[in-house]
Amino acid sequence: RHPGWPAELGPLRVAGGLVTVRPIRLRDAAAWSRLRIRDRAHLEPWEPTGDVPWEMRHHITVWPGLYRSLRAEARRGHMLPMAIELDGEFCGQITVGNVVRGALRSAWIGYWVAKHVNGLGVATAAVALGLDHCFGPAGLHRVEATVRPENVASRAVLRNVGFREEGLLRRYLDVDGRFRDHLLVAMTVEEVPGSVSDVLIRGGRATWA
Ligand code: ACO
Repeated sequence: RHPGWPAELGPLRVAGGLVTVRPIRLRDAAAWSRLRIRDRAHLEPWEPTGDVPWEMRHHITVWPGLYRSLRAEARRGHMLPMAIELDGEFCGQITVGNVVRGALRSAWIGYWVAKHVNGLGVATAAVALGLDHCFGPAGLHRVEATVRPENVASRAVLRNVGFREEGLLRRYLDVDGRFRDHLLVAMTVEEVPGSVSDVLIRGGRATWA
């Protein structure tokens, strides 16, 4: 067992409903595949380039292997692979990756949310819960994220939860077919006033359910 894994986070209430975050499950296969294939146009511009076509990469039969490799990384303490639920329904993923301990105690965070629940505060709430978990039970000191400058919605999420911009990484990640520039944002535990969830609540973006 590693600090902070497994865990159930939330709920936080936002405009869209009740947001919870929990470890991915084998039975997420159908919802994951259906949303990922349906929302291809919404997701693909921001996602790592695949070596097989999108539909094949997201076929329902792909999930068990992906699930097992993510859970194996979680058991080794390298990752926190979680699902986002809105009112009890799978609607996206939030992943904490490259968890490094020792003197660094750092990780990255990444996420996606289905198109039909966009703009309702779901990702903002999930990232706030994820950060509080990283800085609390998981014992991390720094969390970073990278985002394409063109990704206005994701930049709004990162801004909402208090990330600070550190710089522009040129041709950093192979996303949507090419190496793309990414903004690097980060936060250390010293920068969190109480908890990130409390910041959202004080700002009127969420309430404890
Ligand atoms: N243009 C400008 N602003 C927008 C747009 C848009 N097209 N769409 C949404 N926004 C704003 C909203 O107004 C809101 O800002 P506000 O809170 O300041 O009013 C913010 O973006 C969205 O906030 P939420 O509702 O909490 O976010 P949502 O649940 O809609 O999820 C997300 C946003 C995760 C970026 C979603 O659109 C998505 O999954 N996109 C595709 C995948 C992706 O880009 N993932 C992130 C990659 S980067 C990373 O993981 C660090």
